Amino acid sequence: MSPTLHLPGLVDVHTHLRVPGGEHKEDFASGTAAALAGGFTQILAMPNTSPPLATLDVLLATRAVASQTVRCDVGLYAGASPQHTDELPALANHAAALKIYLNDTFGPLRAEDLPTLHACFRLWPRSKMIALHAEGQSVAVGIGLAAAYRRPVHFCHISRRDEIELIAAAKAAGLPVTCEVTPHHLFLTDRDAARLGPLGDMRPRLATQDDQDALWAHLASTVDCIATDHAPHTLAEKASANPPPGIAGLETSLPLMLTAMQQGRLSLDRLVELMASNPRRIFGLPSQPDTFIEIDPQARTTIANERLLTRCGWTPFAGMVVQGLVRRVILRGRLVYDVDRPEALAPPGAGRLI
Ligand code: DOR
Ligand code: ZN
Ligand code: ZN
Repeated sequence: MSPTLHLPGLVDVHTHLRVPGGEHKEDFASGTAAALAGGFTQILAMPNTSPPLATLDVLLATRAVASQTVRCDVGLYAGASPQHTDELPALANHAAALKIYLNDTFGPLRAEDLPTLHACFRLWPRSKMIALHAEGQSVAVGIGLAAAYRRPVHFCHISRRDEIELIAAAKAAGLPVTCEVTPHHLFLTDRDAARLGPLGDMRPRLATQDDQDALWAHLASTVDCIATDHAPHTLAEKASANPPPGIAGLETSLPLMLTAMQQGRLSLDRLVELMASNPRRIFGLPSQPDTFIEIDPQARTTIANERLLTRCGWTPFAGMVVQGLVRRVILRGRLVYDVDRPEALAPPGAGRLI
């Protein structure tokens, strides 16, 4: 028997749970089951749903569904849309944060014109985060907005050397910017994309070895959070003529990062900062008393599609041997996940809406 490690419940500020409109890919019950299996007790769900969480009526209806069906604690992002900037103050009362898509990705939600960006930065409360999907020179746009409005901005899934170096420079200049990187950008490159085809396609796309080296080099300093960008699509959709970008990540992120820890690439303290304390502090999320996860750091497992709880049922990491297993998850004193006892999984509704 190897020793059990107790860690805080993990926090993922970047998951796609597909409600409303994409429940065949994932819903609140299946996505939060995957979260618990991955060691996450608190997650934020993205607004690029169908319809998007960009109007008060859709956001409130989605909150009503979530409150009945989540197994862990979930907050919802509002999405910025040029057509609905007048709703931003009302959306802010019911959302954990605002997401602005500056670049093309899955779904039509986009806000890149200056009037819309001004409205977002003027109307969104300073106490709640603005998160950006920004690639390439859009990172400079986001830094400019953070500087002009002197307010915090969080950069999602930074994946390129140029981007992380620009964020490092912005931080050195004292600007209130933070960023996340994903395990898939830390573990896969464009060579894997060639091997995986649509199963290795996401936004931002997998990058070069040099880009990946830069992310690892900045993991001890510039990077604030690891986020999964859990973006499930079905295998049928991935096999179609027009495959959507995105891959699941909730159940593989911690095993991958624990494997990196065993390889000496980061310390356990840093892992906990990146996957729990920093995301909670940066997004101002509530603490979760009597909440922790039990890890077997020595256990070696082979990642297998058959064992996933995400509805999409596949991961590009299938077949990879990882070291570090989530055994049990305790949320507010209650057992909500046990790897050996499927019946211990918390029922829908056991989680709280943030
Ligand atoms: O690959 C991605 N998939 N990147 C995104 O930004 C969106 C996501 C999705 O919703 O599928
Ligand atoms: Zn994105
Ligand atoms: Zn995303």
